Amino acid sequence: MNSTIETIDNRVSLRRYKDKKIEDDDLNQIIESAMRAPTAGNMMLYSILVIKNKETKKILSKTCDNQPFIAKAPVVLIFLADFQRIFDYFGVSNLKEYCKRENRDLPNPKFANLFLAGGDAFIAAQNAVIAAESMGIGSCYIGDIIENYEDKKALLNLPKYTLPLTMLTLGYYPEDFKKSKSKRFEKDYIVFEEKYKRLSEKDLKDMYKGKEEKMKKKNRYNAENYGQYIYARKFDTDFFKEMERSLQVMINNWLEDK
Ligand SMILES: Cc1cc2nc3c(=O)[nH]c(=O)nc-3n(C[C@H](O)[C@H](O)[C@H](O)COP(=O)(O)O)c2cc1C
Repeated sequence: MNSTIETIDNRVSLRRYKDKKIEDDDLNQIIESAMRAPTAGNMMLYSILVIKNKETKKILSKTCDNQPFIAKAPVVLIFLADFQRIFDYFGVSNLKEYCKRENRDLPNPKFANLFLAGGDAFIAAQNAVIAAESMGIGSCYIGDIIENYEDKKALLNLPKYTLPLTMLTLGYYPEDFKKSKSKRFEKDYIVFEEKYKRLSEKDLKDMYKGKEEKMKKKNRYNAENYGQYIYARKFDTDFFKEMERSLQVMINNWLEDK
């Protein structure tokens, strides 16, 4: 193992932080590493919001499904899919006139733009995660950033073609932190040679067997198996319904021709 692979292998999501500031030089290094991530067409269709303000973090912790640790992280990074910047650049590049002259279409940004920008945002975020970890700074993704879009739009001053797709909390590992790595599924269920393999009933039951045993210890949903448990715990929930609603508003807003 080299040190990069060790960093990747040892990393866990950190949800409790040492009371220690992340120095500007270190934060800059993390951001520089994020910006070295591959990006579609080298266009960098993303933006990073650096959040240190206590009140903003508090609001984020509430509007991201009430996760108090968000407010306690020294720094929070929000990764936006951002087509606004290049769209504005088109605006100052006489693109309308050019397209008219050259008989080219000029549709508003749609799905492909959103997909490229979203990919860029996630890939940059993961570079930040690994860079931070290599510096002893832990992180946790917050998927709930996509909830309550209207609140985040107002709080963060987001124009039409910027979507908050993911968020990271950053902070140092507390001294008494005992690292416990969560298990991953066996490779055979995740990686296929050349063509996709749809899993059989037996494969699926074997794949989730470990989870089922763990579930039995803390089954709060009257579930008979892990499928029922995970559905009740993650999908049939208020937070998941809010994610769905909020994402629909976000995407409709992006696609709306006005
Ligand atoms: C897209 C995404 C969204 C996540 N959202 C949250 C979240 O809102 N809150 C949280 O505590 N952890 C969140 N996590 C962290 C996962 O729960 C964590 O990665 C997973 O349980 C595996 O644990 P590990 O990262 O320690 O290996 C998220 C992870 C990803 C990749």
